[in-house]
Amino acid sequence: MATGDPDDAPGDHVGTYRPPAAFVEQANVHEGLREAWDEQGAEAWATAADLLSWSTDYDAVLSNPEPPLTWFPGGELNAAYNAIDRYVESGRKNRVAIKWAGRLGETRTLTYQDLYHEVNALASALSELGVGEDDVVTLYLPMVPELTIAMLAAARLGAPHNVVFAGFSPDALAMRMESTESSYLLTCDGYLRQGEAVDQKNRADNARLALDHDVHTVVVDRMGFDVSLGEGEYHYADLVDDHGGETVEPVARASGDELFVLHTSGTTGNPKEVRHTTGGYLAHVAWTTHAVLDIEPEDTLWSSADIGWITGHSYGVYGPLLLGATTLLYEGTPEYNERDRLWELLERNAVDVFYTAPTAISSFRKRDVTVPDRFDLSSLRLLGTVGERISPSGWEWYRSTLGGGDAPIVDTWWQTETGGMMVATLPGVDEMKPGAAGPPLPGISVSVVDRSGDPVEPGERGFLIVDRPWPGMPTSLANGSGWAPDPSSYLVDVDGWAYVTGDRATVDEDGYVTVLGRVDDVVIVRGRRLGTAEIESAAMSVDGVAEAAVVSADGPAGPSLYAFVTPAGQETDELRERITQALEAAVGTSPVPATVVFTTDLPKTRSGKIMRRMLSNITDGDALGDTSALRNPEVVGELKSVLHGE
Ligand code: PRX
Repeated sequence: MATGDPDDAPGDHVGTYRPPAAFVEQANVHEGLREAWDEQGAEAWATAADLLSWSTDYDAVLSNPEPPLTWFPGGELNAAYNAIDRYVESGRKNRVAIKWAGRLGETRTLTYQDLYHEVNALASALSELGVGEDDVVTLYLPMVPELTIAMLAAARLGAPHNVVFAGFSPDALAMRMESTESSYLLTCDGYLRQGEAVDQKNRADNARLALDHDVHTVVVDRMGFDVSLGEGEYHYADLVDDHGGETVEPVARASGDELFVLHTSGTTGNPKEVRHTTGGYLAHVAWTTHAVLDIEPEDTLWSSADIGWITGHSYGVYGPLLLGATTLLYEGTPEYNERDRLWELLERNAVDVFYTAPTAISSFRKRDVTVPDRFDLSSLRLLGTVGERISPSGWEWYRSTLGGGDAPIVDTWWQTETGGMMVATLPGVDEMKPGAAGPPLPGISVSVVDRSGDPVEPGERGFLIVDRPWPGMPTSLANGSGWAPDPSSYLVDVDGWAYVTGDRATVDEDGYVTVLGRVDDVVIVRGRRLGTAEIESAAMSVDGVAEAAVVSADGPAGPSLYAFVTPAGQETDELRERITQALEAAVGTSPVPATVVFTTDLPKTRSGKIMRRMLSNITDGDALGDTSALRNPEVVGELKSVLHGE
């Protein structure tokens, strides 16, 4: 058991915990599973595929051990059929599929039958508009039920969905529609963000102006704005009414066919397209929802991430629906909302499993040290975290406050690219170590290696790689492009099959992985993954800025984005304000803490490259290491004095 005041140093667990006996007894997976999977190798993943209904059986689990790889080759299935129809057919039609809680206290409940009705109607309408197999359908919607319905309607037609986070700018939307050649867009009139109405239709129109091709646009009425529609534009409600009662045969997709595309920040400035398959992805997600989130059909899962990110896709939509459970969708972000909303939502919906990000946990903790007495959170059986490293003290607080002192916590490491969870404890099997995600899941193999690709000693820092294919792998890896390590961006040289994740990590003597952060130009801010290049270009576009570099660090203003800016002229508060606004617009969510630091110069190498690592170290107050590559060492003193008053 834990003792003392937990400190937040990486890999410093304050104790270990066993799952409580009552949890172990009811858990979906038990002791011995790892050993059984180890014996079977890739074949073990058949257990995951068997959670799905296939219209044509697969011939094998994995085509062959080298790219091009196909998981469950020969198999055919449809995602919407798996998430909806089979529960309608099996007598669970009146069970709740989606519970939605709106920003203004509105609620909407959709049973599997309701979902079947609306998804079919929309699929029928989309098909009439011309959507066919492999046409990309873009969704630019906030957290409303129509977003999930549209994902499933597209999937029913075999059309990959392309969800673009509603807070992203029109430029970001245009770029994501251009690169996927998407001619279909679903958006809404507007929505509330941090209490302010956003005119989403107008933003979507601006994006369309930037595109070379025509776009059919469907508009959901979220705010009751009076929207007049032009050519090629339709009201969502009209389409669903006109096509109500129609059904569309789910299109059988080959296992390796694309289910969706989602963009994420990569090492270069441009967003990276990640495409996921139908069979492998769904099997991976269904299995991890079952084994790690321990979901049973009677359960309500609240995965608080926006559907605009991978966590929302995998554990807000597909995971719970594939298992016939209930998913809670909340339109707001629980950490920024009015007092008590979090507690109310958990209690009111009798949430069994809550899955959120460490940033959210810290903000709940800052607000309420304990759960106010009038709320009963006893329905919570399991807690999960994702997206960033959780501090041991945050972990302890999460468990004692939301978990009533004994709920197990799963700290899950994974990425947009992996599709589903990769490293986590099995909640009814493994010991938990606060601060460490855990061992790789059964069927997954990861290593922490040095620059030459050799495994590091326990406790030493290294690069986290995945060294065996896994079902949720993206199509680029399966096809063999991008599967080999790229030495220029990731600095490692690995023989054999490897996916280099871009994360730094340590592993302990029990094989538990602690993920420390990124090695590339990707930053994680409040659980959101962003590229420094995208944010820097926003800062650079501000009039009066000569040069800018952005890092994410735990500096004097707390964990934040720090933008180091060399002004072209005067350093003024007004300039600072304009830069802050530009950063917030680029990030797409207003409450991202951004600290603007003015400086006369940025630390640079002799070849003129900005040394961002040096900026993070100065901001964190860490040792600077070797500074011999610096062309302008005098800037270090200036920055230390501005930041830390040294
Ligand atoms: O740095 C790791 C961090 O989030 C990155 C992936 O971000 P994204 O693709 O947006 O997906 C986030 C949700 C799956 C990783 O490269 N990360 C994710 N989970 C953890 C984590 N860092 C530490 N601990 C975790 N549990």
